[in-house]
Amino acid sequence: MPSHETPSPKGLEVQRTFDRITGYYDRMNRIMTLGRHAAWCREVAAGAHLPPGGSLLDIATGTGVIALAVRDRHPDATVHAVDFSGRMLQEAARKPGAESVTWQYADANDLPFGDASFDAVTHGYLLRNVEDAERVLREQHRVLKPGGRVVILETCPPRGPLRYPVELGVRMMIPLLGQAVAGDRESYTYLKESTLGFMPPQQVAAVLRRAGFESVAWRKKFFGTNMIITARKPPA
Ligand SMILES: C[S@@+](CC[C@H](N)C(=O)[O-])C[C@H]1O[C@@H](n2cnc3c(N)ncnc32)[C@H](O)[C@@H]1O
Repeated sequence: MPSHETPSPKGLEVQRTFDRITGYYDRMNRIMTLGRHAAWCREVAAGAHLPPGGSLLDIATGTGVIALAVRDRHPDATVHAVDFSGRMLQEAARKPGAESVTWQYADANDLPFGDASFDAVTHGYLLRNVEDAERVLREQHRVLKPGGRVVILETCPPRGPLRYPVELGVRMMIPLLGQAVAGDRESYTYLKESTLGFMPPQQVAAVLRRAGFESVAWRKKFFGTNMIITARKPPA
């Protein structure tokens, strides 16, 4: 997979982490979300509200679960899926149905697409891995057509009465599962930290608005540890 530009030092670290965990990424996700991840990806695909024959860009596609859910829901859509982990892209491209998606190397900070190219943009678990979420969202705003939607799946720092038990569960279970399932405690320690340290939905909504989006809404999932956020680029 060609790599155009070298990511930033933090980007390189993230890229190496995901290259390393590719082989067991889907299995770990299924276990950590008790099988819910695939359903959330279908919900993201539905939330894109693609018009007939529309075009969608899935960023940080990883093993392609969201991109393939979009393809299943909208067989007539043009689906582009990008990531900066070559190994993740190779894994995605091997899955059933992958031949009708265009898989491409790209850094979410500098998307290789023209202005107003897509009817919708989706991403799962991208924002907590980037240094400047506003820059990345502005880039998505640029490639979206006026009136286009962005649909985001992210981890969510738990709040409310369940905060401390859920936090404790995340702190203990994720590195332990990483060790047991993948023999890789280090990568999943990073995942635990980026989950608990990520912005709550109100803050993501504020960044989305600063990046030019409107009509921001969100739903929390799985004891408040995950969320789906939708927003729209204002119509022309
Ligand atoms: C946790 S995985 C998510 C994969 C998929 N979206 C899902 O929901 O299962 C995060 C992905 O984001 C990619 N990623 C992180 N930062 C990125 C960036 N700046 N540009 C492109 N991809 C990035 C990683 O390589 C990894 O494949």
